[in-house]
Amino acid sequence: MRIFNLFITKPLDQLMRNAKEESGMKRALSATNLTTLGIGAIIGAGIFVLTGQAAAQYAGPAIVISFIISGFACLFAGLCYAEFASMIPISGSAYTYAYSTLGEFVAWIIGWDLILEYLFAASTVSVGWSGYVVSFLKDFGIFIPPQFTAAWHTVLVDIPNIGWKPLTDQLAANLTSTGVIVDHLPHITAVLNLPAMFVVAAITVLLVIGIKESASFNNVMVMIKVFVIILFIGIGFFFINKVNWHPFIPPNTGVWGHFGWSGVLRGSAVIFFAYIGFDAVSTAAQEAKNPQRDMPIGILGSLGISTVLYILVAIVLTGIVSYTFLNVADPIAVGVDAMGKGLFWLRPIIKIAAIAGLSSVILVMMLGQPRIFYAMAKDGLLPSRFARIHPRFKTPYYSTIVTGSVAFIFAGILPINILGELVSIGTLLAFAIVCIGIIFLRVKRPDLKRPFKTPFVPLVPILGALICMIQMYSLPLDTWLRLIIWMAIGLAIYFTYGVHNSEMRKLHAQEKPDKEQIAG
Ligand code: ALA
Repeated sequence: MRIFNLFITKPLDQLMRNAKEESGMKRALSATNLTTLGIGAIIGAGIFVLTGQAAAQYAGPAIVISFIISGFACLFAGLCYAEFASMIPISGSAYTYAYSTLGEFVAWIIGWDLILEYLFAASTVSVGWSGYVVSFLKDFGIFIPPQFTAAWHTVLVDIPNIGWKPLTDQLAANLTSTGVIVDHLPHITAVLNLPAMFVVAAITVLLVIGIKESASFNNVMVMIKVFVIILFIGIGFFFINKVNWHPFIPPNTGVWGHFGWSGVLRGSAVIFFAYIGFDAVSTAAQEAKNPQRDMPIGILGSLGISTVLYILVAIVLTGIVSYTFLNVADPIAVGVDAMGKGLFWLRPIIKIAAIAGLSSVILVMMLGQPRIFYAMAKDGLLPSRFARIHPRFKTPYYSTIVTGSVAFIFAGILPINILGELVSIGTLLAFAIVCIGIIFLRVKRPDLKRPFKTPFVPLVPILGALICMIQMYSLPLDTWLRLIIWMAIGLAIYFTYGVHNSEMRKLHAQEKPDKEQIAG
């Protein structure tokens, strides 16, 4: 049996040469574009959906502390990403960084794992998008048949004055506690989530047409969502009732994770999803005008702005309404309701902002994935067609269409919770590997030019990796099993395809006989 060197690395000098070579993609993105790209990917379902649920179920008003804890984990990982991105400014993100530091095998693992982050996140968020669009259209008297608004086989129940909702154990318990007999309500089994599929298809088309067009669309979406969030914070500030902050950390119920400090920690793991996306900036390195300077600005700038907005939203939201009312799909709208009838006009605006926000998350995630496929295909670990660039549009159209098609199917048939947890575990693993990679490279190649340097190495990367691992640990066993199955599929592909087609291996194989000849 042939033994492969699994830790073969791609020399950094070669990566730099690749970076300088013309990729065929357009260098169109400025530092501002990269920052809006990051904000585009970050602010979405996390703040518009999960915040309220995490406050109501786990942390209470102390969800503010959860945001700060999770923000630190992402800041540490973000600082490591920024060093790599300024040093190795080529698309491929953490996959490329791992290839140059920890070797091809780890790079493949991380590349395969990043599919969980980008492709699955696009599907997850499109399901959230569908929820907001269905509710927005309903406000205007347009009804989409419920069986076409949720994942295949989801049981939906028609709740008086609210409408059709997926019947979860939690919802059944809530309804029962208010005296409703769940079995007496109309039920229906869903077939497909058509709006979610629609948005994935529309964004795929946009991404094939061009990076500039996609960036412009993203800019508009980001402006809408940031403006409305600031509006909410600004107006909400005047409606804060400090009584709602008492107790700030509700006492633990006796169950780990249900309020008290353990609840704050669990809350931070749940809202980690809200921060996912800043790393997507690093996938667009080959389309940045001045990547070495602008990538750290894009990554850290978008992360910083989003963190501040998140903390302010959490402060205001838990100040204007008791956290006990926030276990809903649209907590920000509940916050607006609590401000009184005079502000009802803000409700549809909030929904528009959520729809815009979620659209831009889907866009940036689906922009990131094909660029990782592109890098993997260039290295021979995936078939070369994944690196095809459209002659006219200058975009990686083949991998964009593959990404879009798979995300399209998942969006239609999978429920949001399964998707969301997979996204979190996959991203946490990627962040942990990036943090470790920074320490490794500082030791192995201290000589390299680092336009941006992570401060306090090894403390920052060690803390970053540690917090990510603790958060992974807090995710359910089912999610771990799905991660293991996903990785097993990835390994099968690597050992049957990647190792035989790797460009680095071919290069090594060519160099060896040459050296032997010279020696002979
Ligand atoms: N951070 C992104 C969101 O919250 C994934 O939707």
